Amino acid sequence: MAKRDFLSIADFSAAELWRILQLALQMKAEGTQPSLSGRSLALIFEKPSLRTRVSFDVAMQQLGGHALYLSDAEVGLGRREPVSHVAQVLSRYVDGIAARTFLHRTVELLAEHASIPVVNALSDAEHPCQALADFLTIYEKHGSLKGLALAYIGDGNNVAASLALGAALLGVDFRIASPRGYELPEPLWERTLGLAGASGARLQRLHRPAEAARGAQALYTDVWTSMGQESEAAERRLIFKSFQVNEELLALADQKVILMHPLPAHQGEEVAPGLLDRPPSVVFDQAENRLHVQKALLSQLLGS
Ligand code: CP
Ligand code: NVA
Repeated sequence: MAKRDFLSIADFSAAELWRILQLALQMKAEGTQPSLSGRSLALIFEKPSLRTRVSFDVAMQQLGGHALYLSDAEVGLGRREPVSHVAQVLSRYVDGIAARTFLHRTVELLAEHASIPVVNALSDAEHPCQALADFLTIYEKHGSLKGLALAYIGDGNNVAASLALGAALLGVDFRIASPRGYELPEPLWERTLGLAGASGARLQRLHRPAEAARGAQALYTDVWTSMGQESEAAERRLIFKSFQVNEELLALADQKVILMHPLPAHQGEEVAPGLLDRPPSVVFDQAENRLHVQKALLSQLLGS
């Protein structure tokens, strides 16, 4: 059987995504069988991480396998040796790779040259594992996904891209409000619109936060400056000033709205101070669900 990679949330069909979500719910409720006994996962990180690193490591332990963390200083992806060699060498030792990279092309190269599954643990283009955890969280809190409105306020970044594609596949209505020049990239949006045909998801790309937030069942934001963009931070603070999620914006949403953020957050920037620490914030459920969805994902990709 050909190996499967998970570089984009749209690498999986809607049915496959539902299968992962259902399996994650089952594992969360019933605990985990050691289905990956003796298997190993290499974690390659070019950027810092708390949630992703810990949840992948613990996921492998709970499935009976184990994870090895490899820092960029050690591996030197593409510097100490070509990405293609790293992929081929790791394929001789371990059963899967989860990689956090700057360039999305780097996770693609790893996948092209590895004979084992490669999972995108965040690249500049997408964060598919985060989106899986987020859709699980929305499902748990609202009891369904189809027809719910997810409003994303802020930068059209990696997290927004995976949410948009996932929403289009799963039939979640998705509205994104970003400053001009910081919208989701056109090719990504075209792809998202194409996927929504089958699910009936309604999609909107907007420039006014209030317009996106109105009546939404989930209000989502992420940092204005992603990892790797630090030199733009001051400029972005000015440009995104009116895109803060605060009480006023929350008040426009549905009465049962949940407030979402992948963390880490810059409180006082994209979200008002304190807002993430009280209802309707579900940020720690999102963080917990990283573990459950990744266990489901790994058991599918690395299982026999
Ligand atoms: N949300 C998320 O991916 O967090 P980390 O950067 O800490 O892994
Ligand atoms: N957009 C953020 C997400 C961090 C989990 C970043 O790429 O830094």
